[in-house]
Amino acid sequence: MPSSRLLILGSNGGLGRTLTRQLSQTHQVTAWTRAELDLERPEAVAAALSRCDFDVLLNPVALTSPDVCEAQPDKARLANVEGPQALAEVCQARGARLIHFSTDYVFSGEPHDLWHEDDETRPVNVYGRTKREGELAVLKACPDALVARVSWLFGPDKPSHPDLMIERALQSDDVCSVADKVSVPTSTVDVCEWIAHLIGHPSSGVLHLCNSGIASWHLWAETTLDIASWLGLPLKTTSVRPIRLAELTQMKAARPLHTVMSNEKLQTLLGREIRNWSTALEDYLTARYQKK
Ligand SMILES: NC(=O)c1ccc[n+]([C@@H]2O[C@H](COP(=O)([O-])OP(=O)(O)OC[C@H]3O[C@@H](n4cnc5c(N)ncnc54)[C@H](OP(=O)(O)O)[C@@H]3O)[C@@H](O)[C@H]2O)c1
Repeated sequence: MPSSRLLILGSNGGLGRTLTRQLSQTHQVTAWTRAELDLERPEAVAAALSRCDFDVLLNPVALTSPDVCEAQPDKARLANVEGPQALAEVCQARGARLIHFSTDYVFSGEPHDLWHEDDETRPVNVYGRTKREGELAVLKACPDALVARVSWLFGPDKPSHPDLMIERALQSDDVCSVADKVSVPTSTVDVCEWIAHLIGHPSSGVLHLCNSGIASWHLWAETTLDIASWLGLPLKTTSVRPIRLAELTQMKAARPLHTVMSNEKLQTLLGREIRNWSTALEDYLTARYQKK
């Protein structure tokens, strides 16, 4: 469906910006921010969407900070459940395709092999709970919607863990990162490539969109600093002191420890292997930090 008209919400967010830029190369894209549509006002969704012609609606909007969600659960519910449900109702009525983004934080984080799409969800915080309720509400209102769960995003449009680790290592020889929390770092550029394929594919239900491999925040940080050093950045250290999640006492919301998702279903849909997170990370850091 190369000529689909896309409406991308949350186009100021990390994933939303990358989706907007990448998909504009091949599709007719309308990009909205909170100014055009505030999902905390679900009652305003239908009227706002009636002003736009689209075939596919992409929703990367969410209240994404676990600590903010924990402190403001009503706000989290509006942005992560009721707003998305209203979007799904409109898409169902109009026959439009809806791609709604979700998270690995729907899982409990207990020791587990890879988490598959149909595995039991048991979120441990308000963010994860509202995202899971949002998944269910979207699929109930619009059964053909695609719920795309992503994990540990990094990319050109929002600083994330690798950028923070580089910033620290440029300033100090004492860099630490959590070693007992694991998932899959995932490139937003790769997510856009998968989405470009999925827009024209009749897949629905829950789908895991992540790179291949497994990492702790600590391994992700060490790999980042190794690549950054190789790129010639004047780091004060490339070694990262491992700490435990429990030592980060400033975090108010509980975090799940083990949320490594399987991307087997995505690989089958795409008909090819998905690259490892470390290869995608090397591409990102090279583009972002290598001196021209
Ligand atoms: N980042 C990750 O590592 C990660 C991991 C797993 C899953 N995810 C999921 O991936 C998706 C994209 O995440 P992201 O990292 O790109 O998030 P992000 O950078 O925090 O962007 C979220 C966007 O949503 C907008 N927004 C928040 N509340 C809104 C509301 N009530 N109405 C309209 N817009 C609103 C924000 O706008 P303002 O700038 O105006 O606040 C922002 O542009 C989310 O569904 C998230 O749950 C992300």
